[in-house]
Amino acid sequence: MRVLGIETSCDETGVAIYDTRAGLLANQLYSQVKLHADYGGVVPELASRDHVRKTVPLIQAALRDAGLNKGDIDGVAYTAGPGLVGALLVGATVGRALAFAWNVPAVAVHHMEGHLLAPMLEDNPPYFPFVALLVSGGHTQLISVTGVGKYLLLGESIDDAAGEAFDKTAKLLGLDYPGGPLLSKMAQAGQHGRFVFPRPMTDRPGLDFSFSGLKTFAANTIRENGNDPQTQADIARAFEDAVVDTLAIKCRRALDETGFRRLVIAGGVSANQTLRQKLAEMMNKRGGEVFYARPAFCTDNGAMIAYAGAVRLQQGTMSDLGISVRPRWPLADLPPV
Ligand SMILES: Nc1ncnc2c1ncn2[C@@H]1O[C@H](COP(=O)(O)OP(=O)(O)OP(=O)(O)O)[C@@H](O)[C@H]1O
Ligand SMILES: [Mg+2]
Repeated sequence: MRVLGIETSCDETGVAIYDTRAGLLANQLYSQVKLHADYGGVVPELASRDHVRKTVPLIQAALRDAGLNKGDIDGVAYTAGPGLVGALLVGATVGRALAFAWNVPAVAVHHMEGHLLAPMLEDNPPYFPFVALLVSGGHTQLISVTGVGKYLLLGESIDDAAGEAFDKTAKLLGLDYPGGPLLSKMAQAGQHGRFVFPRPMTDRPGLDFSFSGLKTFAANTIRENGNDPQTQADIARAFEDAVVDTLAIKCRRALDETGFRRLVIAGGVSANQTLRQKLAEMMNKRGGEVFYARPAFCTDNGAMIAYAGAVRLQQGTMSDLGISVRPRWPLADLPPV
């Protein structure tokens, strides 16, 4: 089965074609980062309009890349939520309409299920059960995963998501949006231990997170110590260490609680090298394993939507002819496969 996947939930237009036998046949991505950079964040209306411009040309490019015609597509998967309503509507409308015109089934995909399953596209895919740490721009969640659609939320951020905390702190350090990867790069030149940031909510039991205090801590540290390049790097280092440590502590607890030996990290922040190293060491010591996607499949992309859609289409899940999106959509609402 060949599935066309369309992702337009935020500021990336992603289109891919996944073949359940041959794997990924095409992957096209257009990032709107430059469009939103001047505003320091995503402007929803601009995002929607840019998806309108880019979605169809990217679908044409994906078909061309794969050497396929529209008649070779057996199903269409589109992100239906969570995300920005206008942005979601673009991909959903294009995807639903194409499936109707091509007389193939369409499936509405949950964006976070896409992220969660993205490591399945790699050579050494994880198998069930596992603990998933979803760390993106909008989510920080620990989930017990016993199968596709069998998700139990163990804990989540009560305020900022980890990626959001990275971006806000990066902004304080004068870095462009989205500053997460830039802050991480800056941290490499930072001195370990000059500043020590708190590890929020690790002093009490539970699996929830809180990251909003870290940006305040960063702001205060900048005010007290100045903003010269070395101090900035030292702050970046202290911030990254605090986030990574906190995530690792909660992952360890979730693994203890569930008894699972496999950990999957997904979402934009799972591209972070310090986090990957820390969790790899931890899993090594525990005799377990950590899994993640290649960096391009950690952030938003069409491949994860095509893959998640293919899994659901194969099980007979189909959307009706209506076009509906869910800007808010808890992962636990998904039916099991
Ligand atoms: N190497 C990195 N280190 C830290 N943060 C990173 C890194 N790479 C990307 N990020 C962060 O990941 C986030 C983007 O990830 P992603 O595209 O998955 O989020 P999103 O789609 O905006 O949110 P959601 O999926 O929750 O709707 C940004 O906050 C970005 O700063
Ligand atoms: Mg995302």
